[in-house]
Amino acid sequence: MSRQDSNSRDEKRIIVALDFADEAGALRLLDRLDPAKCRAKIGKELFTACGPGLLRQVHERDFEIFLDLKFHDIPNTVAGAVAAAAGLPGVWMLNVHASGGRAMLEAAVAVAKAARGEKSPRIVGVTVLTSLNDGDLAQIGLATGNARDQVLRLARLCESAGLHGLVCSAAEAAMLRRELGPEMLLVTPGIRRPEDSPEDQKRVMGPAEAVAAGADYLVVGRPIARAKDPAAALETFCSEIHGNLPNLS
Ligand code: C5P
Repeated sequence: MSRQDSNSRDEKRIIVALDFADEAGALRLLDRLDPAKCRAKIGKELFTACGPGLLRQVHERDFEIFLDLKFHDIPNTVAGAVAAAAGLPGVWMLNVHASGGRAMLEAAVAVAKAARGEKSPRIVGVTVLTSLNDGDLAQIGLATGNARDQVLRLARLCESAGLHGLVCSAAEAAMLRRELGPEMLLVTPGIRRPEDSPEDQKRVMGPAEAVAAGADYLVVGRPIARAKDPAAALETFCSEIHGNLPNLS
């Protein structure tokens, strides 16, 4: 099934980042949110602190999980990690670093399919971390163009290795959608409504603009997690994107 077909009926476009140091904070937030309206992202901090037991609790609350552990290692090790992650309860999406290379990316896709077949978690690639600029790339020896060229090079590698999509800045979404066409899923953090503080995010985009630029899923942390009424904040994100979704309207 194509991305457009499988994704067109997906109303849960917001992925709420559970950026908490412990289980209690994360579960308290989830108990205030409706799993029919969003998914949950578990990253390195929370997973390292709480382990797989937390995923069971999130899954029992009916939330689908984006396991944001950004695997990057030799193909055999990443294959083992992806197989283990695909076997955890509720894992709907997971990610790997595109710069791990073709063999590593293909191994990740293959083991996820072998573990779960058609129900394989979506595997998305991280191209260039949005915290790195052209100077940082030159410093680590990637002076073969600029950050945009590097993002596109790695995006094409992810596509040809069979990944389902990419994690990218909303500012890159329009360029990637234009260059890659409609199939690759684009998952974008750095989303803010006008009333939200950008905090440490340097380049932010509104939810409606991000989906209009071609983003499929929006990762939102503090604007929902730290809102007085997280359910109401989620509702405003959902209503802002609805109507701007080319596949849903
Ligand atoms: O609170 P906020 O909405 O800024 O949270 C964004 C989430 O997306 C955090 O979990 C952050 O680690 C993640 N993220 C990001 N930028 C990236 C990749 C992931 O902000 N390039």
